[in-house]
Amino acid sequence: FRMQTSTNQSIKPVTAEINELGNLSIGGCDLVELAKKYETPLYVLDETTLRNICKDYKEAFSAYKNVNMMYASKALCTLATSAILADEGFGFDVVSAGEMYTVYKAGADMKKVLFNGNNKSISELTLALELGVGRISVDNFLELSLLNVLAKSMNKTAEILLRITPGIECHTHEYIQTGHLDSKFGFDLTQIDEAVNLILDEYSNLTLRGLHAHIGSQIFETKVYHDEIEILVKELARLDEKFGLKLDEINIGGGLGVKYTESDCPPSTYEIACVIIESLNSSVQKYGIGYPTLFIEPGRSIISTAGVTLYTIGSSKQVPNGKKYFAVDGGMADNARPSMYKAEYTASVANKPDAETSQSVTIAGRFCESGDILIHNIELPELEEGDILCVYNTGAYNYSMASNYNRVQKPAMVLVNNSQSDIIIERETLDDLISHDRIPDRLKK
Ligand code: LLP
Repeated sequence: FRMQTSTNQSIKPVTAEINELGNLSIGGCDLVELAKKYETPLYVLDETTLRNICKDYKEAFSAYKNVNMMYASKALCTLATSAILADEGFGFDVVSAGEMYTVYKAGADMKKVLFNGNNKSISELTLALELGVGRISVDNFLELSLLNVLAKSMNKTAEILLRITPGIECHTHEYIQTGHLDSKFGFDLTQIDEAVNLILDEYSNLTLRGLHAHIGSQIFETKVYHDEIEILVKELARLDEKFGLKLDEINIGGGLGVKYTESDCPPSTYEIACVIIESLNSSVQKYGIGYPTLFIEPGRSIISTAGVTLYTIGSSKQVPNGKKYFAVDGGMADNARPSMYKAEYTASVANKPDAETSQSVTIAGRFCESGDILIHNIELPELEEGDILCVYNTGAYNYSMASNYNRVQKPAMVLVNNSQSDIIIERETLDDLISHDRIPDRLKK
C-alpha cells in the first residue's frame, strides 16, 4: 500500500494554474474568458480532475477482487457527468425517478444502478422495475410489501438489499457509537429478522442479495468504516447461521470527505481503501464467512473538487464596525451549503490570482436574505466591481441543491478539458422560469 494522495485532498482542480495572461485557468481554459463567454454565475467542471479521482478509486480498491464502484448521483446528476462516470466503469446510486431517468438517458448500464431512498413512490418503484435497475435497497416494511406486489404484477423478481442502520453516528471529524438508533433511514438491527422472514416466507417476487448501510457524509475518520464493515459482516454471518442464507453483497455507502479549506484534512482514497479492505479481511476471518462482493457509492469525493463556481463582484458595503461586504451575482440559490450547513469555502480572484491579499472581506450573495453569505472573512486582494471570483470545490451538492429562489435563473455549467469548453447545462432563461406557470382564463386580461 502506497501513501498516494488523491484529488479529494486538494482544494483546487488538478489543472488549476496561472496562464500567460496572469489569469486563473482550469482545464486549459481562461476563467476570465469563460465568464465573458458564458456569463456568471457559472459552474465550471474539470474533466481531468473527475477522471483522476475515478482512476484513484479504481486503483485504490484493485486489491479487492469483487468490488463495484457506484457514484452517488445526488452529489451532481447531469447527462454529461453520468456519461463520463459510466465511461469510467462506474455504476450509479439513484434516489429518485429524475436521477434514474438521467443516468438511463446518459446510457448507463441499468444493471449497475442501485435505487435508494426512504420513501420511494409506487411510480418510482415501477420505473425501476421497467428500466431493469440492478438492485433496489429496500428501506422499510411498507416498501417490502409494495415492491413485492409490483414485481408480481409485472411478472418480475426484484433483487434487493436491505438498508440497515448500523448504529454508528458520524460527525464531521469524530463519531460516537450509540446503542440508541435515531435515523429515518433503514431497518435497525432488531428488525432485520422480521424483514428476512417476510422475504423468505411471503414475498416470493423479491430476492435478497445483501445488506446496505451509509454512515454519513464529509467523513474524515477511517475507523467508522472499520466499525461499519464489522457490523455488516457479522450480520451476514448471523443470517447464514439463523436462516441458512448465503448473502454475498455488502454496500457500505459513501461519505469520504473533501478539502474545502486549508484546515480540512480528508484521508485519500488509498487510505480509505486500505482500511476497508483490511476490515473486510479481519471480519471475514473473525465471523467465518466467504468474502462478500463490496459496493461503495461515494458522491462528494468524486465530483466536488472538479467543480468551481465563477461569480462577478458587484456592489460593496463597509459597515461601521469595519467589516467589508462584497456582493456577487449568485449565492444561496446556486450554493445552499453555507446558509444551510455553515459550510466554508475558499476562493481566488480569477483575473488577479497572484495579487497579494490585502484585506479580510465577507462575500455576500444577491438573494434577499441576510443569511445569504457565501464566505465569511476571507483574505483577498483589493476587489473591484467586475472582478471574477472563483469559489473552489463546488462540484458536489451545489447545482444538485440549486433553487430558483427569488425567481432567479439557475446558472449554466461548462465542462472544460484540453483548452476546450462545452456547455453541459444551459443557463435558464426568463421564459424557462415561467414555462410551468398557467394562468386561469378568468384572470387573463
Ligand atoms: N449513499 C447514500 C445512501 C447516501 O445517503 C449518500 C449521501 C451517499 C451515498 C453519498 O455520500 P457522499 O459520498 O456524497 O458523502 N447535502 C449534503 C450531503 C447529503 C448527503 C446525503 N447522502 C451536503 O451538501 O453536505
